Amino acid sequence: MKSSYLKIHPWKIIEEDFDPSQVKSSESIFSLGNGAMGQRANFEEAYSGESFQGSYVGGVYYPDKTKVGWWKNGYPEYFAKVLNAPNWIGINFVVNGSILDLNQCSSVSNFRRELDMETGIYTRSFQAQVNPDCKIEVIAKRFLSMDEAALGVIQYQVKALQGSCDLAIESYIEGKITNQDSNWDDPFWNHLSATSSDGLMLLESQTYKTEFDVATYAQTHLINPQGKLISDFDQSTEDGRLSQSKNQFLNEGEQCTVLKFGGYINGLNHAPQTFKTKAKKLVKEALEKGIDQLMEAQRLAWAAIWEISDIEIHGDDAAQQAIRFSIFQLNQTYNGKDPKLNIGPKGFTGEKYGGSTYWDTEAYCLPFYMATKSHQVGRNLLTYRYNQLDKAIENAQKLGFNQGAALYPMVTMNGEECHNEWEITFEEIHRNGAIAFAIYNYEHYTADQTYIPEMGIEVLIAIARFWAQRVNYSDFRNAYVMLGVTGPNEYENNVNNNWYTNYIAQWCLNYAADQQAKIADEHPQRWSELVEKLAWKADEAVLWKSIASQMYFPKHPTQDIFLQQDGFLDKDLQPANTIPPDERPINQHWSWDRILRSPYIKQADVLQGFYLFESHFDKQTLEQHFDFYEPLTVHESSLSPCIHSILAARLDKMQKAYELYLQTSRLDLDDYNKEVEEGLHITSMAGTWMSIVEGFGGLAVVDDQLHINPKLPEAWNAFSFKLNFRGTAIKVEVSKENVRVTHGNPDLIVYCNGNAIAS
Ligand code: BGC
Repeated sequence: MKSSYLKIHPWKIIEEDFDPSQVKSSESIFSLGNGAMGQRANFEEAYSGESFQGSYVGGVYYPDKTKVGWWKNGYPEYFAKVLNAPNWIGINFVVNGSILDLNQCSSVSNFRRELDMETGIYTRSFQAQVNPDCKIEVIAKRFLSMDEAALGVIQYQVKALQGSCDLAIESYIEGKITNQDSNWDDPFWNHLSATSSDGLMLLESQTYKTEFDVATYAQTHLINPQGKLISDFDQSTEDGRLSQSKNQFLNEGEQCTVLKFGGYINGLNHAPQTFKTKAKKLVKEALEKGIDQLMEAQRLAWAAIWEISDIEIHGDDAAQQAIRFSIFQLNQTYNGKDPKLNIGPKGFTGEKYGGSTYWDTEAYCLPFYMATKSHQVGRNLLTYRYNQLDKAIENAQKLGFNQGAALYPMVTMNGEECHNEWEITFEEIHRNGAIAFAIYNYEHYTADQTYIPEMGIEVLIAIARFWAQRVNYSDFRNAYVMLGVTGPNEYENNVNNNWYTNYIAQWCLNYAADQQAKIADEHPQRWSELVEKLAWKADEAVLWKSIASQMYFPKHPTQDIFLQQDGFLDKDLQPANTIPPDERPINQHWSWDRILRSPYIKQADVLQGFYLFESHFDKQTLEQHFDFYEPLTVHESSLSPCIHSILAARLDKMQKAYELYLQTSRLDLDDYNKEVEEGLHITSMAGTWMSIVEGFGGLAVVDDQLHINPKLPEAWNAFSFKLNFRGTAIKVEVSKENVRVTHGNPDLIVYCNGNAIAS
């Protein structure tokens, strides 16, 4: 296991001692979010050292003009960027004439960050010799309200530890901000007005091109050493920057507290004319409640989340901390309250991946949200794609498909494709399969039989139409083949007959045909509407079934193994453990050309298919494939080790399952890939959850019944997980001695290792 500079604790993430070289990593790790907005853990006070400023508003993006060397027809015109939004957290302190800046102070001691995942509150404390006359102590607490989407709270306490201190406080909103990953250094924000009135700072802005309206607001108060609340700050506004200033003298030993309320009011949910009233109401109510009540509300909101989603691991605090970190971050990123939003691979913790939606949502995140929230949340995720179906059809049309065939984008904000590497944009088409599979998965898990007739069937038909046009019949093979694709393993491009893609395409064609027949039979009126709307041709489903039954799958000539793609056996199949350790990860050391020719697999590919369609294969077949592909897999996508861990647990390879679990769960906390400073791997955190619940817990729905097949890793004394299954809250506890399932539904039977278990 890698070592971390962070402390192990079951409920907390803790950093002790100030290390400027870790600032950017910690800014990611200690990020805060509430599903609607989020921010990296930047310091409130000035900091001249290396830092990555980031604060983001859900659903607000800029279409940054695509930058590629060689344009190809069909490329998207832009890459959607989640925007670094105006900074509302900033508070500068000048102490006896010297600016408080941890990069400049002659000494910084007792530095500590603590993210309490049980309450959602982030605390940073330190002592600093700001100048020869004065040493101060700071305790700063911050949270983004889980109850009120637009409210952030800062409580910043300053104490004069040694020497008296003449403090000049300047709390501000800074509108001059940029994205690090901007393609052309375009300005993203147009600030329309900056006003200060009645103590409220309000910066009203609109994004260029997309014209999203966002108001950044903040209000500052001071509690002086005598405990008196002071609100009459001097205001100033200049050039997109608003500030509120106040001086406070502290005798040695005295302290004062700055209270700052702020955040973003998003035009997606509020009319711009109401921004000011809304902001005033937010700060008024926050002040009336007071910091203690606000913190208590935050604790209660998190308690409600943990009540239905906590996972306990006994005897292994590193694993415990990691799974809670995953559940915490997934909830900070997306809470299912707003169907317009989705889950970016980095959530609100960085700019990479543009905050956009990937297949990660359907393939990885849906199971977590379905099982730990109301089923409506899973339905919202599916509805998001339904609402973008027209764009997916347009996207396919641009590539030459017709008759209502849809190709969902690899990366999107509003349904339009924004990825522009041809081998992914045009070829990594398996994403369509994950979207269809998610529809099946949702109905299978929740038993909600209304989604498919109302919406899902249109998505399934459009996807099946795509596959039917994307294959071609090969006279040579007497079968349908799929040429020029990229499978989940992006270390192979433009291959023919990627097994995973062919398999999921075959499944989609059959599933769509079956669902079409079911709807025609059970919902004749809806079906007759659809016949017209979709220009349905009577023999379409017959063609789909026929293609599915004649799909080609590459196989090993002498062993019972499906090959990842045509020609895979031509490679020099040396296991990944023969790669010198100083050449890993290969994507940071090898040329792309060498990677493409190598046999190394970036992430689960054939095994991704075995994971999704486990019931189609027997255990021996799974084992043969696992033993063939796992040694070649370098797991250089965060989405990979979790899938292999689940399969290893199925195969009783518990040591391997546990090693892969640690790799997936502590990826960010231990910074395995040396990139945590760019942001966290939010979507793979859902994979961490799956590794426990589906891997070690063996959760599966079979024939409409809930099954578990628990296996306890040797390093653990016991573990438990919680689930919402069709409206019933269930707790599963697994110890060395027994398995206990608790729920209050007399009609629900849970099967453990195939036997009905009493609750
Ligand atoms: C993976 C993709 C994934 C993307 C975003 C890439 O590295 O290969 O499968 O969708 O990251 O998480």
